[in-house]
Amino acid sequence: MQLLINGRHHEIEHGDEPLVWVLRDELGLTGTHYGCGIGMCGCCTVLLAGRPARSCQITAAEVGERPVVTLEGLAERDADGAVVALHPVQQAFVENPLQCGWCLPGHVLSAVALLARDPAPDEAAIAEAAQPNLCRCGGYNTIKAAVARAAELARDR
Ligand code: FES
Ligand code: FES
Repeated sequence: MQLLINGRHHEIEHGDEPLVWVLRDELGLTGTHYGCGIGMCGCCTVLLAGRPARSCQITAAEVGERPVVTLEGLAERDADGAVVALHPVQQAFVENPLQCGWCLPGHVLSAVALLARDPAPDEAAIAEAAQPNLCRCGGYNTIKAAVARAAELARDR
């Protein structure tokens, strides 16, 4: 079967496996992290048809034809795959670094989805989007600052 990931079709062998393992083990896309495996922590988040989804809770076969975006699919790249420009959300997290980064994929991809539907989110909307993703280092203030900064950067582009 094939999956559409970060704008490219990939032939997949293990359609019955959770998407997180297909991404990490079959495709080497280790920007998607694995934590609890039971849908609680959010570090395995990807965008599925533009919406945050927990890749430990869905098999590759269940994804079907819906496009998947992972952390690796956010930056602008040249024809050789080299990064030309970070996504505004990535840039904002570079400016507001987290401690261990375990939770980063969930927060970045949730922020990308938030800004797509609300380019100028208020504090409450930012907190609501971050809330489903656990940060075991307690970096929520940094995360909220990063998302607010991402909205500024996106507006300036
Ligand atoms: S690893 Fe998927 S939600 Fe925790
Ligand atoms: S920075 Fe360590 S879990 Fe969030």
